[in-house]
Amino acid sequence: MASVPAKCLGVGERAAQQQRATQPSARAAVVSGAPLRLPGQLGSSIVHNRRGQFQQRRQPTWRRNAVAGSSPGDEAGRTSSRSAADGSGGVTWKCTIRSTSPLLGDTSTRLSLVVIDTHSEVRSAVITVDSWKPPREVLTSDGTLAWERDGPVTLPAAIKDPGALLLRKMPEPNGAPAQDYIGSIQLVSATTVHTVPANSWVSSDHGWRVFFCGEAFLPKDTPPALADERRRELEELQGSPESRMEKRKNTDRIYWYQVYSDLSSGQTGKLVRPNLGGSKELPYPRRLATNRGNEPDGREKAPAKGEEFWLQMDDRFSFNKNVDFNGAALQSSLASALAIIAEVSGDRDRSPITLVPSLVLGGLGELLGSLFPRVESPLDNYEDYKDVLAMYKKASGPAFQSLLPSNLYPASASSSASSASSSSSGASTASTRGALGSLIGKVLSPFKKADGAWDFQLPDEVAAKIDASTADQRVGPVYDSATGAPAPASRSFINFDSKPGAARTDERLGSKLWSTVTSSTTSINNLLFFNVPRVLEGRADAWYTDEEYGRQIVAGFNPCTIAALKDLPENFGSAIRGKHVNADLQGATLEQLVDAAKKGAKPRLFMVDYWDLSAFWQAAEAEAAAAGGSSSSKSLLGSLAGGKDKDSAKPMVQHAGRAVFYLRQDANGKDTGLIPVAIELAHPKTHKENPGLPRTAGVVYSRADLVKDPATLAVWRLAKMVFRSLDSSFHQLISHWNRTHSVLEPFFIAMRRNISVMHPVYKLMAPHYRYTLNINRNARSSLINAGGVIEKTFSAGPYALRLASVVYGKYWNFATEALPEDLKARGMVDPSTGKPWLDYPYATDGLDMWSALTAYFDKYLRLYYSSDKDVLEDTELQAWWAEVKTEGHPDLLRFGLRSSEEQLWGFQGPIPSVSRLVTVLTTLAWLASGHHAAVNFGQYDFTSFILNTSSLVRKPMPAPGDAAYKELTGARSREKQEGIILEYLADPITATTVSATVKLLSAHARDEHTLDEENEMLVDPAAREANQEFIAAMKRLECDIEMRNADAANWARYGLANDKSGPMPYTLLTPGSRAGVTMRGVPYSVSI
Ligand SMILES: [Fe+2]
Repeated sequence: MASVPAKCLGVGERAAQQQRATQPSARAAVVSGAPLRLPGQLGSSIVHNRRGQFQQRRQPTWRRNAVAGSSPGDEAGRTSSRSAADGSGGVTWKCTIRSTSPLLGDTSTRLSLVVIDTHSEVRSAVITVDSWKPPREVLTSDGTLAWERDGPVTLPAAIKDPGALLLRKMPEPNGAPAQDYIGSIQLVSATTVHTVPANSWVSSDHGWRVFFCGEAFLPKDTPPALADERRRELEELQGSPESRMEKRKNTDRIYWYQVYSDLSSGQTGKLVRPNLGGSKELPYPRRLATNRGNEPDGREKAPAKGEEFWLQMDDRFSFNKNVDFNGAALQSSLASALAIIAEVSGDRDRSPITLVPSLVLGGLGELLGSLFPRVESPLDNYEDYKDVLAMYKKASGPAFQSLLPSNLYPASASSSASSASSSSSGASTASTRGALGSLIGKVLSPFKKADGAWDFQLPDEVAAKIDASTADQRVGPVYDSATGAPAPASRSFINFDSKPGAARTDERLGSKLWSTVTSSTTSINNLLFFNVPRVLEGRADAWYTDEEYGRQIVAGFNPCTIAALKDLPENFGSAIRGKHVNADLQGATLEQLVDAAKKGAKPRLFMVDYWDLSAFWQAAEAEAAAAGGSSSSKSLLGSLAGGKDKDSAKPMVQHAGRAVFYLRQDANGKDTGLIPVAIELAHPKTHKENPGLPRTAGVVYSRADLVKDPATLAVWRLAKMVFRSLDSSFHQLISHWNRTHSVLEPFFIAMRRNISVMHPVYKLMAPHYRYTLNINRNARSSLINAGGVIEKTFSAGPYALRLASVVYGKYWNFATEALPEDLKARGMVDPSTGKPWLDYPYATDGLDMWSALTAYFDKYLRLYYSSDKDVLEDTELQAWWAEVKTEGHPDLLRFGLRSSEEQLWGFQGPIPSVSRLVTVLTTLAWLASGHHAAVNFGQYDFTSFILNTSSLVRKPMPAPGDAAYKELTGARSREKQEGIILEYLADPITATTVSATVKLLSAHARDEHTLDEENEMLVDPAAREANQEFIAAMKRLECDIEMRNADAANWARYGLANDKSGPMPYTLLTPGSRAGVTMRGVPYSVSI
């Protein structure tokens, strides 16, 4: 994890940092001390890195032959032709092979290598390690028990400057495949030290693999001795036109593209989803090809039983990330726990049963029966707000009273509480139901304590069973390394007690793994423990205010959708008019403020527009009609339109909406806060109930009209909650998944296929793609898949990913993904200064990060490109860019959804200049780091609390005149009003699912790599210096952010704090962080 500058730290954090500093450093252990050369100079290179993740796949014929044969003659073409003719005698060097994986089975054996000299093109004879000393186990600083092995090697005297190594792993004696994870290989002569990074699984399926020294070379500058190997390595990663379409096997290394045809692999009936990508209607970026073959309808077949979606071994999570919940919980532990909760509560409809390994279910069946009595849906609704807050009891002490707001209701509303019995006609029996629910909860629910607090902690027996059953999965790659296949005996293996000094390495290691996978940090119950979210802690009176609502639009979990209002709403089909907002505009009018902003003045009105969420209303209706009202189609419609058919036991309603915000100012013209002044909402039935209303318009909820009366205040608050739910959907599907996870994947695939690991652009960008393929693979299998967590917990249900596709098709342009362009396009910055018009923490901190990235990339790239001509003539770089456009993101131009390359990509044709390359790469780095961090790591603290953010809405928003509106405005006690509102928001099981999921997604893993840490792929001294300057800039940014957060003039960070409510600083773009849910820390890559 990143370190934080001491002067920015609190006492506790500083102590923790000092403690970390005393721990041995894995990096220090592998860095050698030989002199470094400047770019262009050939010679000794030293390098190490963590997981540079270089890979490959099926061998060309010549290389497969080399594997099959064992006699030197078979390998002459690749390994030793020049050394045989060298005739100058041998020199003894010391060679050390280091792994960062545990020593198991046959690891460290049957490895061969050949050394290639940079200058002379001489290659050594084949060297085998089996005559060396036995391997040693070494403990890395992150707690992994790894191995290293060294021995003498005799190299031709002409080899003075090793530039590359060929490495090969042979199969086991019985012919079974075998693989080793190789971190680095070090060669030491009497005068020099050369460390060649590998960071790769080397398999007996691969034949000879090449690993290059750490120096960076443009293609034209490649030393001649290495040029062929550079080309061959890329060819292997590319595969042939035939092999790239073949089904992948475990050790394959080919990168290719495929449409999103795996979201419902293996599913039938109502869980069938259309492919995303490859059509005008559902355009989408491509994902990593797995080629399992297609069903007749074009969907990819399901993996074989027990198999995961394929992923290159080198792109999988590291051992440490994998043993964290970040690695496996999405598929197994969390799904199991939620299934149990749903099952026990009688809510099988919500049970993510398809995700639960049969092993877990089978093992838990009896246990569940004995531990839990079946209950009759005690979890349908929260009773009141206090009941919601009771989720957080444990973290807030013995009682949760401190979380209860004191000013939520106006005095007049409180005084009417005693009139609860005189409820209006037509009102539900919410309070009665609440009391009954409470009774049921106390008597029957296993998740409620006698004092009313929620407690989703599973009994120890159940939790232990889940933890143990998923341990296999979490340590899988380690066993793969030893045997080539998952070890069936691993479960009993890891139950061994600690046996220090035991002869068998698996016995010694077993205890290590067991303690890791069963430690408190990885228990499923940790995910089901809900600490108080920061949006609530110390700020019980903040969440319901309009000021906080507006603040979160610029400093919350989705700060990238607000836009200056420069057009009258009627011009884009909205029903919002001056009469709805003028009373809140401090003497101005809608027309005046829009007109002024259009003419270039500072905007005071802003809009967030989520009308596109209505995209599938009609399609769902048509599907239902076409299916003749079959149960499955009714369920689809029900999920969108609030249907009450039995298949839709938990109806969800997909609204569309817009909100207008006003930037208030004091008498001196100083900004004091942003408040919502009008919210426009519609649901699938709105236009049927209001035939005259255009499809582009909805019911307008005016703040000024509604807050005057305690009765209608409830309507305003519900409108805010419903709109926030849209914000939540748009955040998850668009701002988060679309704009980072999914759009970046094809950029990485294209990079692996076209840009060598020797290329300076590869070395600069590889950290920005670390783990992205793995987390996206996980997401496709358990989050965004048919019946997955997103469909179950967001209002769009089965249409969720189709909405993401539609919005990608309508709006995504690489050209405006650069932060300054994005802000400009939304009218959020003063064009004369480039600075935000208002206190906009995401933009202010983000622009600083953007500037630092730009300066760093510019300096770095100019070390290698001396002119724009160099860029234009860089064959690897231009092949990458061309392939991104034609294979990675082909749909937008192919189907005419954009008018030109310029519109989509910002320019036409190849990358023309160094400065353009800087912008392209900075945009990619920003999306992977700053943008992703801003929308990812605040999820728990903003969205786990349903009163602040409910992921779904279960009932249509009431409109004036309808019965539901009367019910809400007629509720004369706060308990009754709260009970009614909670029927609209997420139910307790959904809230628990969301809370546990976003807790997982908001957590930094132990081996996270943040922007204030070195890019360890850089070796060239000038490159490292540029990187150090960037790191210094990141540390300065941390201090700047702390200063901004402490300045009361910044209303969005501090200024709204008062005696009832503490401040909520904006920390999401603070580069460094410790592990865990910290609401800060900017990893290089999209890795969670
Ligand atoms: Fe993410």
